[in-house]
Amino acid sequence: MRERFRVVGGARLVGEVPVVGAKNSALKLMAVALLAEGRTTLTNMPEIADVRIMAELLRRLGVSVDYDPEAGVAVIDVPASIGHRADYELVRALRASISVLGPLVARVGEADVAVPGGDAIGSRGLDLHAAGLEALGADVRVTHGYLVAKAPRGLRGADIRLDFPSVGATENILMAAVLARGRTTIDNVAREPEIADIAEMLTSMGARITGAGTSCLVVDGVDTLHPTVHRVLPDRVAAGTWAFAAATTCGDIEVVGGVAEHLRSPLQSLAAAGCHVEGTARGFRVAVPEGAGRPTAFDVATLPYPGFPTDLQPFALTYNAVADGSAMVTENLFEARFRTVQELARLGADMQVDGHHVMTHGVPLLSGAPVESSDIRSGAALVIAGLVAEGYTLVSGVHHIDRGYPHFEVGLRSLGADVTREPDEHWYE
Ligand code: EPZ
Repeated sequence: MRERFRVVGGARLVGEVPVVGAKNSALKLMAVALLAEGRTTLTNMPEIADVRIMAELLRRLGVSVDYDPEAGVAVIDVPASIGHRADYELVRALRASISVLGPLVARVGEADVAVPGGDAIGSRGLDLHAAGLEALGADVRVTHGYLVAKAPRGLRGADIRLDFPSVGATENILMAAVLARGRTTIDNVAREPEIADIAEMLTSMGARITGAGTSCLVVDGVDTLHPTVHRVLPDRVAAGTWAFAAATTCGDIEVVGGVAEHLRSPLQSLAAAGCHVEGTARGFRVAVPEGAGRPTAFDVATLPYPGFPTDLQPFALTYNAVADGSAMVTENLFEARFRTVQELARLGADMQVDGHHVMTHGVPLLSGAPVESSDIRSGAALVIAGLVAEGYTLVSGVHHIDRGYPHFEVGLRSLGADVTREPDEHWYE
């Protein structure tokens, strides 16, 4: 059954909210477990729909996954022999399942992974993944909707340079290179904190990696890896979401467990715009002093880490929709990531798309209306927009939000919002 959120406008969010493990790390760490026979334990796992789908994908490869969402623990028991096919049904539901490609070709010598295709935010190519595995000696081709990578005699080290610091390609090549014969250098890699988290887990399994967090990774292949216990790093996108929620509602939120260092660009922009931003013993705090009026709109250009994260772009749009003044938001990573704009316009926002730019003109208050989520971040951004709209807003497509935010409405209510989950009776299949 489809659900929607009913959001009552006029809330100033105040209080503290926790962040747990990062979706964009946890899913890949589950794939990393495939690289070693035995029981690997992941803690601080987020209670989100995507983890359940990934667990199902691993089970279909012959792996046992004991996932306790409340405890935030996943015990992944990998047998000596595992499958090598990730079928379309699951890959279509979860794009991140492409991250089993590298571990399977490295561990089994073959990987058949359905090509996920594009989604609401863009075409999402895989050419960099394929080129990297080919450089490591795999034969890679697309056939019958599957990306098939074969290396029956194993992989060998290589010097690789990525044309673009793709997160997914960096992860797949890294996960493959750890079991390749010899040394691999991967230049112009992604530097997102999630990459360092994966490298940390691999190193605790016996891998030999240097340069995590820099633009060049060096990997000396080993013959085997052993299972491990690893704690997932905090979700910087969820933490950034709460930072923008505080700024947009002129509230005051302490993000418990959030790592300010991982959000340097957005937090610096919020501070420059008049928000009070400070580190705390348990995380960081973002506040708009009461009576200070609306913070100032600011320009955003999304970039690979450590630039402004594309996953926070929809929140910057919502923030600028009610901030003081005009600004430009530029999306440099995904060519179709402005679907939030048309929904914000339904709420009375004044903004215009021009190619990969959006010109925003802040208004004091939006007006409530039914709107539609098209993906995780856009959906959550529309819920926050509903908090600064007159009357109530109905946000459909809650299943998108559940994929990335554990119990989003519970967190919002704990900060003083009036947000309820209800059946979306008007949804026509
Ligand atoms: C990861 O996607 C995240 N997803 C995304 O978060 C995030 O937006 C993105 O990194 C950028 O930070 C997960 O980790 C599950 P990319 P990924 O490869 O790995 C192009 C969310 O909301 N490209 O860095 O798919 C691609 O089309 C999600 O949590 C190629 O052309 O991102 C895109 O334009 C949304 N060829 C750009 O690079 C390739 O082979 C960045 O993609 C690979 C990528």
